[in-house]
Amino acid sequence: MTKATVEAPSNIAFLKYWGVADLEQAIPRGPSLSMTLHRCATRTTAVFEEGATGADEVLLADTTATNDAPELSPAPEAFAAPVRQHLSRLRKVAGRTGTFTIATRNSFPSAAGLASSASGFAALTLAALQALEHPVSPAEASVLARRSGSGSAARSVMGGYVAWPEGPDHAAAQVALPDHWDLRDVIALVETTPKKVSSRDGHRRAPTSPFFEQRIAHLPARLEAMEGALQNRDFAHLGTLIERDSTELHLITMSSVPPIFYWAPATLAVLEAVRAVRADGVPAYATLDAGANVHVICEPAQEDTVAARLAAVDGVHRVLRDGVGVGPRTDVPALL
Ligand code: PMV
Repeated sequence: MTKATVEAPSNIAFLKYWGVADLEQAIPRGPSLSMTLHRCATRTTAVFEEGATGADEVLLADTTATNDAPELSPAPEAFAAPVRQHLSRLRKVAGRTGTFTIATRNSFPSAAGLASSASGFAALTLAALQALEHPVSPAEASVLARRSGSGSAARSVMGGYVAWPEGPDHAAAQVALPDHWDLRDVIALVETTPKKVSSRDGHRRAPTSPFFEQRIAHLPARLEAMEGALQNRDFAHLGTLIERDSTELHLITMSSVPPIFYWAPATLAVLEAVRAVRADGVPAYATLDAGANVHVICEPAQEDTVAARLAAVDGVHRVLRDGVGVGPRTDVPALL
């Protein structure tokens, strides 16, 4: 029996991945760029029993538990099925036969409505490969993580700032270390239920927007501009590009057929608050993934002001604070 535990963080996309060349393998139509987070993470323990037969067991931790030994219960089939599928893929890559027991736990507050597939599939990929004693490079880990079908997981196997460019193998790569720039992500939670349309469906519908090909055409130039602003620590330039890209992602979703409206009424109120805080001389820029919650990117000196202003907006249930993180860790207690 071999066992490994990995905690992988979530990430917030500055340049959004939306639209696929291959949905099953999550091969993107365009490049993306993200900041790996620190607090929002998934911890996964994988136990591999060589030669054992039967179905892999998938257990979920009680998200309300605060201790290191949370109660575990069998995951619902909708959660377990893609996990088992990914485990079969990894077993094949490693050329091994046997059975896994997987236990997983999100650090995100329960029902936060935040995406967990990026951190979840990154943690699962890394923990399972370790339990299989199959060492891989960061680029190989990125490719295997995206083959889960969750493309953004390709960026969560690394820390700091990560680009996922187009390329023959579609592997993500770190473009700046976490200590290059201490950026913060202040998250205004306006919706605590899972989103109504999955990102999988969103990727599928994206090409039906009449603006999709236009977006794809200018993404390489935007990636270059973002990478430049990141390297130069030009916050106003980077922030402007981040906010523009997020609005454009939602322009694509709203103009897809049938349309997808991820925003909630309070989303608009938060976006207005971000513009107001900026008008008061506080540099902060908003970005949303495929959901209604708003991530506000700022520098450390502005974090308290931003958090207070977001908390005061009607319809904001809770404000979470996160920031750039170092990437996956193994120095964490096992769940099994
Ligand atoms: O990884 P997926 O298939 O859940 O897609 C993620 C899509 C966005 O979060 C909206 C953008 C991104 O690049 O993370």
